[in-house]
Amino acid sequence: MRLLVTGGAGFIGSNFIRYWLKRYPNDKIINLDKLTYAGHLSSTKDFSSNKNYKFVRGDICNARVVGEVMSGVDMVVNFAAESHVDRSIVSPAVFIKTNVLGTQVLLDAALKNNVTRFHHVSTDEVFGSLSLDSNEKFSEETPYNPRSPYSASKAASDFLVRAYFITYGLPVTITNSSNNFGPFQDPEKFIPRMITNLIDDKLIPIYGDGKNVRDWVYVLDHVKAIDAVLKRGKIGETYVVGGMTEDISNLEVAEKLLRIFGKTRKFIKFVKDRSGHDRKYSLDWRKIRKDLGWKPEHEFDVWLKKTVEWYKDNEWWWRPLKRRAEKLYDKTGQK
Ligand code: NAD
Ligand code: DAU
Repeated sequence: MRLLVTGGAGFIGSNFIRYWLKRYPNDKIINLDKLTYAGHLSSTKDFSSNKNYKFVRGDICNARVVGEVMSGVDMVVNFAAESHVDRSIVSPAVFIKTNVLGTQVLLDAALKNNVTRFHHVSTDEVFGSLSLDSNEKFSEETPYNPRSPYSASKAASDFLVRAYFITYGLPVTITNSSNNFGPFQDPEKFIPRMITNLIDDKLIPIYGDGKNVRDWVYVLDHVKAIDAVLKRGKIGETYVVGGMTEDISNLEVAEKLLRIFGKTRKFIKFVKDRSGHDRKYSLDWRKIRKDLGWKPEHEFDVWLKKTVEWYKDNEWWWRPLKRRAEKLYDKTGQK
């Protein structure tokens, strides 16, 4: 089988390709990635010489390039996106371009080339925000209510994917996953930002009161969920993918990291809150468990510790990215 993976030099995409090449050694993968600030060839270094892997630098908004790489492809897995909420607040335009228009360019090419599957990787942020005292969870039935330019652009892309299924019969699936963590995540995101600051004995900036809740899923669990959907998912369906955490606040995550590093709460620094900051995400992933037999397997505390070890062992990877990541927070004042 021949797969086109977009955004495969990013965090989840590179973990997906690493997994897929090992799990399905006869499949061929083309990785189309623009290499924006978030795309790193260093994340693909260990598999870049695999004979079944090919990298193409290009923009998903460019119909000519997309048309070329789509030729002969069986399945498309679309990871390519602008993915950072804080950046979407500072510069929304590129989020609309890549996440909305780029997805539409890919959908058109997928249709022209009769792909057997177009899988779109999306987010739980499309469902909006829960209040802290609510017992509600997001599921496939939850109406969309995006609240940031990032989540609005992802919601628009999800609707386009569904529209191509309904209108043109393109065989699509969608996953809406919660917050991923693990190796090769850019140090501008919460967990790697905290870890890399603590390695350097720096304070860790917590937005607002730190009570915001995220559902954390280890990146390999997310990758395996996509595998399950590609192999056994029903065409036209959406699957919500969540992790093993239950209502854990950002402050609690920070405290766990401080314990791992043997540091005190003196390392916590409360900073200006994110504008429009979603309070809580919580996911009901019973559909993918029941229909496809997938469940998360990586326990948060154990894999948070292993993730810390990974960052300690792989300074070569994150150190060149750290200064640029912190420049964003010079702009937002969140440091
Ligand atoms: P990332 O920011 O680490 O990587 C994005 C990749 O896409 C980069 O390699 C970048 O160069 C590439 N890219 C950006 N614009 C492009 C364009 N116009 N053309 C081609 N390539 C382009 O993102 P990530 O965290 O790996 O997220 C991957 C996908 O998963 C995104 O669609 C995101 O919305 C979704 N998602 C992420 C999370 C998470 O916690 N990180 C959770 C749920 C869903
Ligand atoms: O829920 C899925 C989403 O998770 C994905 O769709 C996004 O692509 C991904 O970036 C992530 O979005 P978040 O905004 O939840 O992740 P981020 O790592 O930016 O922040 C996690 C939480 O931590 C959030 O409540 C904001 C807070 N935070 C973040 C940073 C960077 C801090 O308190 N301090 C920080 O320095």
